[in-house]
Amino acid sequence: MKISLKIWRQPKRDADGAMVDYTLDEVSDDMSFLEMLDVLNEQLIAEGEEPIAFEHDCREGICGSCGVVINGEAHGPEVTTTCQLHMRSFSDGDEIVIEPWRSEGFPVLKDLVVDRSSFDRIMQAGGFISANTGAAPDAHATLVPKDNADRAFMGAECIGCGACVAACPNASGMLFVGAKVTHLGELPQGQPERHARVVAMTEQHDAEGFGGCTNLGACSVACPKGIPLNVISQLNRDRQRAALRSSD
Ligand code: FES
Repeated sequence: MKISLKIWRQPKRDADGAMVDYTLDEVSDDMSFLEMLDVLNEQLIAEGEEPIAFEHDCREGICGSCGVVINGEAHGPEVTTTCQLHMRSFSDGDEIVIEPWRSEGFPVLKDLVVDRSSFDRIMQAGGFISANTGAAPDAHATLVPKDNADRAFMGAECIGCGACVAACPNASGMLFVGAKVTHLGELPQGQPERHARVVAMTEQHDAEGFGGCTNLGACSVACPKGIPLNVISQLNRDRQRAALRSSD
């Protein structure tokens, strides 16, 4: 099939950018979205032009590095990561608009690549547990109820892709923070730092320039891992408990 592309080109951080038009004449339904960009880049290189910078690693929906906004939707028309999106989701003659995540917390580095190290700094602020070094403890030394284990695992499925931020009109990353807080807060090992964690992570989230959550839910709809909105409720409960404790 033949497709038209409008792609954000920006030579470097803080430089002006613009949408640039491209055409691809022979796109297979079976290509992944990133393979389609690979074909375009081969075409650009053959023509002596600068290829389009886009991020990817696993191409298996695991690492979270590949996100772009496609036709106004984070990761495009399917609920999946950009690397798991296939060209069969589009039709012959379609125009596809591709942009980077847009948020103060994710500054554009080049073309479609944004700096997501703000998420790393939020994790550094509190997304960890303290554990004694030495031999690994017995796997069943600390029992975890099944419901807590399932909910912790659900939170752990967040791959930190940033689609929640891209989908939110406030550019809030609270679904990401909520997933991490829920993951650790459901486990016995996460209890000692539970309240300090939620305060440190939400403060770092705000310091990075992400917006506040107003419970619109667009983040959860766009999330390729289906993280539910109620992780933010859990985050808010922990945050309130932390405030009550500090006022004792
Ligand atoms: Fe790893 Fe897409 S490249 S999730």
